[in-house]
Amino acid sequence: MSKCSSSGCGSKGGSCGSADANATIAQQNMAINASLGRIKNKILVMSGKGGVGKSTVSVNLAIGLAKKGHKVGLMDVDLHGPDIVRMLGMDGPLNGKHSKEGKMPPLQYNDNLRVISLESMMENRDDPVIWRGPLKNQAIRQFIADVDWGDLDYLIIDAPPGTGDEPMTVANTIKDANALVVTTPQSIALADVRKSLNFCKIVKMRIIGVVENMSGFICPHCDKPVDIFKTGGGEKLANEFSVPFLGRIPVDPKVVIAGDDGTPYLSSGAKGLAVEAFEAFLAKVMKEQPVKAAAIPMAGLNSSCGCGSGPCNPDTCDC
Ligand SMILES: Nc1ncnc2c1ncn2[C@@H]1O[C@H](COP(=O)(O)OP(=O)(O)O)[C@@H](O)[C@H]1O
Ligand SMILES: [Mg+2]
Ligand SMILES: [Zn+2]
Repeated sequence: MSKCSSSGCGSKGGSCGSADANATIAQQNMAINASLGRIKNKILVMSGKGGVGKSTVSVNLAIGLAKKGHKVGLMDVDLHGPDIVRMLGMDGPLNGKHSKEGKMPPLQYNDNLRVISLESMMENRDDPVIWRGPLKNQAIRQFIADVDWGDLDYLIIDAPPGTGDEPMTVANTIKDANALVVTTPQSIALADVRKSLNFCKIVKMRIIGVVENMSGFICPHCDKPVDIFKTGGGEKLANEFSVPFLGRIPVDPKVVIAGDDGTPYLSSGAKGLAVEAFEAFLAKVMKEQPVKAAAIPMAGLNSSCGCGSGPCNPDTCDC
């Protein structure tokens, strides 16, 4: 991806003159608004902790919504640890035809699911991404502005753990993004997840709800649930923050195998309690975030801010 897309910029390092830079930002803001205006619901999957199943939840949520006939995009903003394309078993590079507006085609998982991840743009997938805030911010803005997402019912955004640059950029760029918070039942994870919920409050991001992943264990011998950790912490946390509880998903060894093999669980044809749990979670998300209710005509319009139904003016609005 280029550092500066201004046509008049001769700067090699990407630090162009301020007039050019402002014009570039204004142009990019317009492209971002145009892309977001065609996406009805934006869901940021986040957690204070790593390894709790954010990417697993993102992938299975995206596949589940696509299976129900919705047009879905999956955007991997875990720039240092992008896992999405591997979990989906998609290892080809991005090489489709650009749109007539010059936008990059996302990877197409199936007719209803489009995917973008930094991993599919890298020459060597095992190379580390050594980027700081501004570059990460720019990459995420380009994922929105320069990708040909088309009309979507849902955009699922898979975040890295914590409340750093990536969720902050999403909060600043996608004003009508909603958070879906993933936790595991142990108190240590719950303590970190509380920070994510408070982050949402501070940046005024609506919280769809909390899901408790790795909640109990499905024994591979008898397919019955076993409570190896405590359960119920996620529901308590949701109650404490007065947000919906979206359900419990048990640990099922088949989920790990599905993720490692690149055959996501909900598309693997597997049956059992974990599939039922994912389906119940999906139904709850669709109830809390139905397609029609959340549709807005243009991105940047935030009915909860002081600007009413017009575009939000950051100079005068306290949102
Ligand atoms: N419900 C589950 N049952 C079994 N394994 C799971 C479950 N959820 C996630 N995992 C596994 O746990 C590991 C971490 O999950 P991942 O989705 O990558 O977490 P995160 O994105 O939060 O870092 C992966 O190997 C994944 O397959
Ligand atoms: Mg992840
Ligand atoms: Zn058993």
